[in-house]
Amino acid sequence: MNAPPEAPPAATPAATPTVANAVEVEKLWTVFRSPQGDAVVHRDLDLTVARGETLSIVGGSGTGKTVLLRQILGLETPTRGRITVLGQPAALMGTRGAASRVGMLFQHGALFSAFNVLENIAFPLRELRTLPAALIRDAALVKLQMVGLSAKDATKMPSDLSGGMIKRAALARALIMDPPLLLLDEPTAGLDPESADGFSELLCSLHRELKLTVVMVTHDLDTLLATSSRIAVLADQHVLVTGTAQEVMATPHPFIEHFFHGARGRRATELTAGSAIIP
Ligand SMILES: Nc1ncnc2c1ncn2[C@@H]1O[C@H](COP(=O)(O)OP(=O)(O)OP(=O)(O)O)[C@@H](O)[C@H]1O
Ligand SMILES: [Mg+2]
Repeated sequence: MNAPPEAPPAATPAATPTVANAVEVEKLWTVFRSPQGDAVVHRDLDLTVARGETLSIVGGSGTGKTVLLRQILGLETPTRGRITVLGQPAALMGTRGAASRVGMLFQHGALFSAFNVLENIAFPLRELRTLPAALIRDAALVKLQMVGLSAKDATKMPSDLSGGMIKRAALARALIMDPPLLLLDEPTAGLDPESADGFSELLCSLHRELKLTVVMVTHDLDTLLATSSRIAVLADQHVLVTGTAQEVMATPHPFIEHFFHGARGRRATELTAGSAIIP
């Protein structure tokens, strides 16, 4: 008779590598070549995201925020430099099963119009083709409710949803495989102020409950101040400054001046004064 196999040791450091930083970007260069000439989007860009924090990236349009998120996700390869995500090179993230490590809410990421809400949420799990349909359905229902949608929304088609519901369903899809890292590209863009506030409250509670690391690109100052532990400003092709809102606002730069100290910025920072940044 064969001896029973030895039980594997309880979680070893090798099985569950614990790295202090969720994301490390070092000396990143992104250059797009075209017949009109080279466009340098990132030049020697460094960025570190600690585990468990919500780091927001702000910057003018076209400064390379979406490109940076796509590189962190492993969908695009930088021209030069190193990106490490959860202890591994980002290039390995674009492979099968990556959704269990990083969830992404794309800037213009719509739901699949031919699928209902539950089918959309379940999609990454179905793609794996390893789990029974009933289990996938149950997992999708849990996520549906986690993002504040109700069971009766499950069979609705995307065309019957409000903008806020679409964002919530897309967030549930990003979280379906319980990734420890969530990337959000303009999650509240196009939402009315009430829906945007509701969405940022949801982000705060998910961040607390799931102990997620969140990297968010946003132009929405209210969401930025309500959710971020730190802010990184992308300008002049690199990360100009990273810190709390107060630290960032103390940095002299035309973009920061315009973004935080313009009328819109003054209103948002007054409204959230004292309760803004999560320690
Ligand atoms: N595949 C590509 N080929 C050539 N240029 C590209 C490509 N992808 C992005 N770019 C250029 O890189 C720059 C940065 O684009 P990106 O989408 O990251 O900007 P962004 O900071 O997200 O802007 P926004 O705030 O408007 O969303 C833009 O000038 C864009 O045209
Ligand atoms: Mg963008």
